[in-house]
Amino acid sequence: MPSNPPKLQAAVINSKRLQIVKETFELKYGGLPLFYACAPGRVNLIGEHIDYCGYSVLPMAIEQNILVAISMNKSETIQLTNTNTAYEDATVSCSGDIAIDRANPKWFYYFLCGVKGIQEKFGIPHLAGMSCVVDGNVPPSSGLSSSSALVCCAGLATMEANKKSLSKVALAEICAKSERYVGTEGGGMDQSISFLAEKGSAKLIEFEPLRATDVQLPDGAVFVISNCCVQMNKAASSHYNIRVVECRIATKMLAHARGLRSNGLLKLAQVQTELRASLEDMVSLVDEVLHPEPYSREEICKVLAITSEQFSSELLSANTQDVKHFKLHQRAKHVYGEAARVLRFKGVCDSGPAESIQLLGDLMNQSHASCRDLYECSCPELDQLVEICLKSGAVGSRLTGAGWGGCAVSMVPSDKVQSFQRAVREAYYLPDSCRAAMEKHSLFVSKPGGGAAIYL
Ligand code: GLA
Repeated sequence: MPSNPPKLQAAVINSKRLQIVKETFELKYGGLPLFYACAPGRVNLIGEHIDYCGYSVLPMAIEQNILVAISMNKSETIQLTNTNTAYEDATVSCSGDIAIDRANPKWFYYFLCGVKGIQEKFGIPHLAGMSCVVDGNVPPSSGLSSSSALVCCAGLATMEANKKSLSKVALAEICAKSERYVGTEGGGMDQSISFLAEKGSAKLIEFEPLRATDVQLPDGAVFVISNCCVQMNKAASSHYNIRVVECRIATKMLAHARGLRSNGLLKLAQVQTELRASLEDMVSLVDEVLHPEPYSREEICKVLAITSEQFSSELLSANTQDVKHFKLHQRAKHVYGEAARVLRFKGVCDSGPAESIQLLGDLMNQSHASCRDLYECSCPELDQLVEICLKSGAVGSRLTGAGWGGCAVSMVPSDKVQSFQRAVREAYYLPDSCRAAMEKHSLFVSKPGGGAAIYL
């Protein structure tokens, strides 16, 4: 029986933080909040850019989260203020359909995505008005999923304010879908772990149907997150959606080559299921069928026997309409290879051989190389940071999240954590004044945190 998000005592929230949020609330709205919604960010240990292809991923929630204080109002509006004054206040009508303008994304649009998801799920024409104070300690634009945590918080808060009830699984699915209103065609990992996480355990997240299984990480090593200090905002660039589209086209090309009816097929995992093949077979199939040179639109249309208009409307997203070339071989090869590494990682954690830390580290290193070389979702600073982490004592290190900036996650033997952090600080952060200024919130040990909850 799928469970609902827990309702906990607000007293367990860090008291200083709760105080600041409460004070901001009183100052702004002249009363106390009725309840709080809280949702964590995440770090993905392995399984990058494969959730939207239908494959399982292996993240854990981090201790940093988004906390929102809420009370209902009678003004038929959603009022939002952020404790970080760099984010401007917003008031949005909620007496009709919530509108989200993709062309001009603002911080609170992520909140509106969560609201809209609940509105649509229950078909609520007039949502309860909400006065909210948002407080986040997940570093933004760093690949730790601060935006999805905000979407999840908003979904949870809207459910509660409108006296509805949903399971964690349903909430995760609704929030994954509704975050796409900002224009990024994300896969669902971030929202799923934000709701389904449990303290002390990483999770294997499987899709269709969505479920999360505990993964017990080996004793004797910890995960250290380090930010390369290059900001990455998925919604503001088309990198992410180009990869989603390349995988979609690769799906069609592989299905076509194997004589499958490709109509309903949009994900690389579906081709594997249809062919009843192993992941290793799929890697060989990619080598056999797809050429490494980039594909032009003309070539793809010719092979698939579709018009250029069909290509644009059925395969491309709004922000990839002008893309001319598509690297199908490299992207599909990464996806099938990475999907296999996730299963191996889980297998090593489950069977716990003596050398498991080294085996897991190797898999993380292979994952980074594949993200860098085949998927091209790294950047020079992240590659440099990963190198430094390995030289500083990590057994494995890789980019985490969407990439093109943001964080690396490293697996470090517990007895080396201090010397590791010292060495990374000296080699990566201190030589650069910008990085040095950001170091305090950029290099930290992370333990698996709990999932989203309501606090009363
Ligand atoms: C972002 C998306 C996820 C996932 C990762 C890459 O975080 O929101 O769905 O695709 O990138 O693994």
